[in-house]
Formats: sequence, structure tokens, C-alpha cells
Amino acid sequence: MKYESQKTAKLYFIAAIGLFVGQILFGLIMGLQYVMGDFLFPEIPFNVARMVHTNLLIVWLLFGFMGATYYLVPEEAETDLVAPWLATLMFWIFLAAGAATVAAYLLVPYATLAELTMNDLLPTMGREFLEQPTITKLGIVVVVLAFLANVGLTILKGRKTVVNLVLLLGLVGLAVFFLFAFYNPINLVMDKFWWWWTVHLWVEGVWELILGAILAFILIKTTGVDREVIEKWLYIIVAMTLITGIIGTGHHYYWIGTPEYWQWWGSIFSAMEPIPFFMMTVYAFNMVNNRRREHPNKAAVLWALGTAVMAFLGAGVWGFLHTLAPVNFYTHGTQITAAHGHMAFYGAYVMIVLAMISYSMPLMRGRTAANSPRSQIVEMWSFWLMTVAMVFITLFLTGAGILQVYLQRFSDAPMDFMVVQDKIALFYWMREIAGLVFLIGLILYCVSFFVGTDDPEVAIKEIEA
Ligand code: HEM
Ligand code: HEM
Ligand SMILES: [Fe+2]
Repeated sequence: MKYESQKTAKLYFIAAIGLFVGQILFGLIMGLQYVMGDFLFPEIPFNVARMVHTNLLIVWLLFGFMGATYYLVPEEAETDLVAPWLATLMFWIFLAAGAATVAAYLLVPYATLAELTMNDLLPTMGREFLEQPTITKLGIVVVVLAFLANVGLTILKGRKTVVNLVLLLGLVGLAVFFLFAFYNPINLVMDKFWWWWTVHLWVEGVWELILGAILAFILIKTTGVDREVIEKWLYIIVAMTLITGIIGTGHHYYWIGTPEYWQWWGSIFSAMEPIPFFMMTVYAFNMVNNRRREHPNKAAVLWALGTAVMAFLGAGVWGFLHTLAPVNFYTHGTQITAAHGHMAFYGAYVMIVLAMISYSMPLMRGRTAANSPRSQIVEMWSFWLMTVAMVFITLFLTGAGILQVYLQRFSDAPMDFMVVQDKIALFYWMREIAGLVFLIGLILYCVSFFVGTDDPEVAIKEIEA
């Protein structure tokens, strides 16, 4: 760590991990409700648990992106953040707003919450992922604007690298597309049409730039490969992401009442979306194979390579699986979608945030380059447990999805939704078990921060040994 203000990231990372644990607990509650319908009813109904699970996911990933940015930008720009105090202040505002919102989801019926927060003045609530009360959304805008100003001015002041500029482009895009969360037309077709401008253009557009920039930074740091080489890859990845991902939004416009040409545009462009993800895999392995040095932080390199592989599998392969209109006609809104959603979010965005935490936390905690080998071994165990568990969650959901599509939509004698759900319950039980393994992996991850030694001198000796 070269600049004092990089330390701001630490708070953000700690909050991110804490909320991640919350997200998984609610995932497990829902997983159980799938097979034991009245579990925790009426205290925590499924729809509330779902909202908490997905909202915590998005919020902790945002904490993770912000932390990663505060760490990365000063080092790339070779100058301290212009206003570290603002970053810290915004952290507490964001955390308080996030906690209050989740508490409100759990304590107040949603309709009452909408009334209390005067949703009727500017109705934005009630849509998947964008359930936050309008005042929370406004709070997010304030936090993000302060964040962008801080980061933007730091970049302007300092050295301008491709990594920083791609990251900034991604972050500005994130802010701009969030604005569509405020547009909530009465017409349901229009509503859905614009809703995807936030949801799809985030994960298959601007967030991919953030992913590419953070991955590039970690690879530069851990492999010592020439920046120029990595930058060339980054340019092509950014270009391919935007070329395929923007019009690829059409893969959500097949059956919502939009013109039929979207079935062509959506199919053709989204079928090419795996390309930038595949390029990330190839380039990550290329860089690590051609590395100029052995970085002592093996866990961080493992997370970086894991991200590249799992993002390609979850987004690229499992995305492609159901993206062509004739296939999506049958699979739309089934467990196939959930299988893909889980692996893609985990592989791309969960893992890149954990990779950045893995790389930067030891440095922020004064452990020179890496945690002790003992701590890294625990961390690598957590990597494999979480990643393999997620592979199984995905496979079980895919199995459930294939049966669901067949029994409910494809066979000559289609069955009712709930009849089919009963028939595929075994898959849901297995998903729950895999989810428990995931939780164990996550607990180990948290434990790894307390294993080994806090004494940098001892840590260096451990690494040398
Ligand atoms: C990291 C990137 C990605 C993430 C995080 C992600 C996540 C998701 C999520 C959560 C959904 C469900 C949305 C909902 O209806 O609530 C979804 C839907 C979908 N995704 Fe992705 N996705 C990614 C990349 C891709 C790619 C690259 C493709 C195509 C190759 C793709 C194809 C689809 C399709 C076709 C649907 C609609 C499924 C349906 O009709 O039910 N996704 N994605
Ligand atoms: C890092 C890990 C996880 C991520 C990134 C994640 C992400 C998501 C996302 C994006 C959705 C919305 C999916 C959609 O609309 O298709 C979702 C829903 C859900 N998740 Fe997770 N999740 C994770 C872990 C878990 C775990 C461990 C469990 C339980 C074992 C779980 C259970 C569920 C359930 C039951 C739903 C609701 C699906 C439905 O509405 O039918 N999740 N999760
Ligand atoms: Fe999409």
C-alpha cells in the first residue's frame, strides 16, 4: 500500500463481508421455504426473504466495488484521494441507509413501508431488485455522486491509466443506469422495458467494465506482466462487452409485448455476449502463465483465476444456454434462470470483490505482501468450498429447471405449476445442502482473517519459510 487514503477501502470491505453473510442466511431460509412451505411463516414470508437476499447482494457488491475503487484509484493515479473524509462519511451514510432499509423490509409490511416513505409522490417501489423505498434510492444517488466526485477528481489530478479510466467509465455507467430506477411508467410493457436498462445494462454492460478493470489491476500487481499487454486486452474486452451487451438487452424483450424483431436482435447479439467473458478467461491464464514474478499472495491469484473461469461458466455458458429466443420460449422464468443468475452473480461479481479483498486486505493490515501461509490455506479452502458448492447449486437448479420445463411446458400433457414443484422437490433439498456447504465456506473465509499472525515481521518469516 503506497497511499494512506487507500485504507478507506477497509471499512467498505468489512461491511461488504458482513452483509454477504446476511445475504446467504436469507438464501438458506428461502431454500428451506421451498421445501417446507410454512417455515418461519408469518415472521419472514418468502417474498420478504427474497427481497432481503437480493437487495443485500446488490448492496454488498456496491460496497465491494466502492472499496475496490478507493484502494485501486490512488495507487493507479499515484496520488492520494482528494477527500478521504468524504469517503468515510459516505460509508456511514450508506451503511445506515442500507441497514434501515433492510430492517424496514423485515419489520413493516411492504405496502405500509411504501405509504410511510411516501412512495406515491414518486412511485419507484415494487420491482425486483429495485424494491428500495424512493428515499433510499435518493440516498444511493447522493452516496454515488459523492463517490464519483471523489474518485473522478483524484483521477483528474493524478496519472491517467487505462485501468483507472475503464473503471471510471464503468462507475459512471453504473450511476447513469441507476437513474432508470426512478422511471416507473404505468404501462407494464414500458415498465419492464426500462427496468432492464438498470438490471441488464448493469450486469451485462457497465459492471463488466468494472470487473475487467479490477481484474486487470490484480493481474498487473500479482504477475508483474507489462501494463501495455494488459491494456490491449482490456480495450478489446471493453469493446466486445459494449458491442454485444447493449443490443443484447433484447434477450429480455422476447415475450413482454415489444415488437417481434427483438427476437432476432436479442438472440444474435446476446449469443455473442460470452465472447468478452471468454477473453477474460484466456487473458487471465495467459498473464499468470507468463508471469514475471511469484507473488506471495497465492490466494489472491487463485481468486482472480477463479473469477475468470466462473464468470465465463455462469454468465457465458449458462447465459447462452437459454438466450436464443426459441429456447427462451420454454425456459423463461424457470429454475434455469435462477441457476444462471446464481452462478453468474457469484462467478463474476462476488468473486472479483473477494479477489480484491484478498489482494488488498493484507497490505492494508500491514502484512507487507500477503497473509501468513496458514491463513492463506484457510482462505483457499473457503475458495474451494464456496466455489464447488455454487457449482452444485447451479447443477441442482439446472436439473430442477430441465424437469420443470419438460413437465410443465413441453410434454404432451403439461402439468400444473405446483404439481411440478412437488415432483422436483428432491433437487431443492439438494440445493439446500449445497447452500449449507456454501455457508461453511463463507464462515471459513471470515475465519481466515483471524488465522496466522498480526505481526508483520513474523508474517514475513512465515512467507519465507
Ligand atoms: C455476470 C453477468 C450476468 C449476470 C450477473 C446475470 C444475471 C442474471 C439474472 C439475475 C437473471 C434473472 C433476472 C430476473 O428475471 O429476475 C438473468 C436473466 C437472463 N440472463 Fe443473465 N446474467 C449475466 C450475463 C448473461 C449473459 C452473458 C447472457 C447470455 C449469453 C445472459 C442471458 C440471460 C437471459 C436470456 C436471461 C433471461 C432468462 C429468462 O427469460 O427468464 N446473462 N441474468
Ligand atoms: C453468493 C451466493 C449467492 C448469490 C450471488 C445469489 C444470488 C441470487 C439472485 C440473483 C437471485 C434472484 C434469482 C432470479 O431472479 O432468478 C437469488 C434468488 C434466490 N436465492 Fe440466491 N444467491 C446466492 C446464494 C444462495 C444460497 C446459498 C441459497 C440457498 C441455499 C440461495 C437461495 C435462493 C433462493 C431460494 C432464491 C429465490 C429463487 C426464486 O425466486 O424462485 N441463494 N439469489
Ligand atoms: Fe440480460
